[in-house]
Amino acid sequence: MGTVARIRCPRCDESVDRAAPPVGCPRCRGVLDAEVDLSQIARGLAPEIRRRPRGLWRWREFLPIADPGAVVTLGEGDTPLVPARRLGAEIGLERLYIKNDTVLPTGSLKDRSVTVALSHAREVKATTVAVSSTGNHAASVAAYAAAAGLKAIVMVPASTAAAKVVQARAHGACVVAVRGPFDRTAALCREALAAFGWYSCLSTNPWRNEGKKSYAFETWEQLDGEVPAWMIHPIAGGLGVAATWKGWRELNALGWARGMPRLVVAQAAAAAPIVRAWEAGVPDPVPVTPAETVAESIAVGSPSLGGRALDALRATGGAAVACADAEILVAQARLARFAGIFCEPAAATSLAAAAALAGQGRIRPQDLVVCTVTGHGLKQPADAAARAEPLLTIDPSLSELEGHLRRNPL
Ligand SMILES: Cc1ncc(COP(=O)(O)O)c(C=O)c1O
Repeated sequence: MGTVARIRCPRCDESVDRAAPPVGCPRCRGVLDAEVDLSQIARGLAPEIRRRPRGLWRWREFLPIADPGAVVTLGEGDTPLVPARRLGAEIGLERLYIKNDTVLPTGSLKDRSVTVALSHAREVKATTVAVSSTGNHAASVAAYAAAAGLKAIVMVPASTAAAKVVQARAHGACVVAVRGPFDRTAALCREALAAFGWYSCLSTNPWRNEGKKSYAFETWEQLDGEVPAWMIHPIAGGLGVAATWKGWRELNALGWARGMPRLVVAQAAAAAPIVRAWEAGVPDPVPVTPAETVAESIAVGSPSLGGRALDALRATGGAAVACADAEILVAQARLARFAGIFCEPAAATSLAAAAALAGQGRIRPQDLVVCTVTGHGLKQPADAAARAEPLLTIDPSLSELEGHLRRNPL
């Protein structure tokens, strides 16, 4: 298991007691960082990790949980890295890979961080966990809390896709639908956490945030040590890029990897505070009020890890791309039709950004590109259903079927 060297605020350098609640920096309110002591990880450990049973906890030495008995797992991690040749040809990329996180236990990337958060909650003997969410995080916290025997209260905007709400409720969580945009839900959750003392699964929880380093670990292993030229993430709070950057830094520090991918933040144009900051050359996102978008899971106006994501872009020579809803829907359809991956619209922003950067000549055709695709299409099927042709409904008759095929050749 990983040894935590310290819990530190990268912005003001304040160190915080490990037993303190998993919330923001008491001095500057920045997001704290759990620093795992890499000197405790044997340089020659990589082959052993390779031989362990599949899953995110193969990388346990990199995760800030001391007690193996506290681990709450549903078998998350080790998602396929799919070589997507037909899809790549559509957007002019010869070496496009999809990191398919739609197959995680609750159907979204959130399981990578929630398995670590709830393991920590068990380690500190919490009884009730709480989170605000655009939907996927709520479903994940609800599922892992059910498995761990913890109570969960999850808050989502009232407009959240019905399937995600059904999913969270099925696991027995107390689901609260809050009127207004996500940032209002998030503010209410912060107030409630302070008032009731529940365990916080928010993105200010430094333990939780370590889970997504696994994007770097798994990709490095799946590519047999080759470092991708680009890794592109759909981004809301900023964690996907910030944690992937940290994971690659740790692999480099151990001498296991040589080099860094250029990291890319992909956001919906309707909610793109990180892209706006990147374009303006400022270090922190300027909060926005999200407009309506099909990418509802990433419609976040005040990204708590936005500053760290921007650091990652600067350090790796990356990019930030705002995608229009029309581009996101095209990307969603392309993933389904050319790669066999049905994802929710937000999850397709990575591919939309890849297409945009390839179109501009920024990504070259032969570059190795990894797009993370982060949420299953069945979680929010309405947009795909709306653009589908009317469904063929016939009597069980071969001649009717033949008639249809004549009029609509395959
Ligand atoms: C489907 C999907 N993709 C991506 C994200 C981005 O998360 P983050 O920026 O915190 O990595 C979210 C967050 O809610 C999500 O639900």
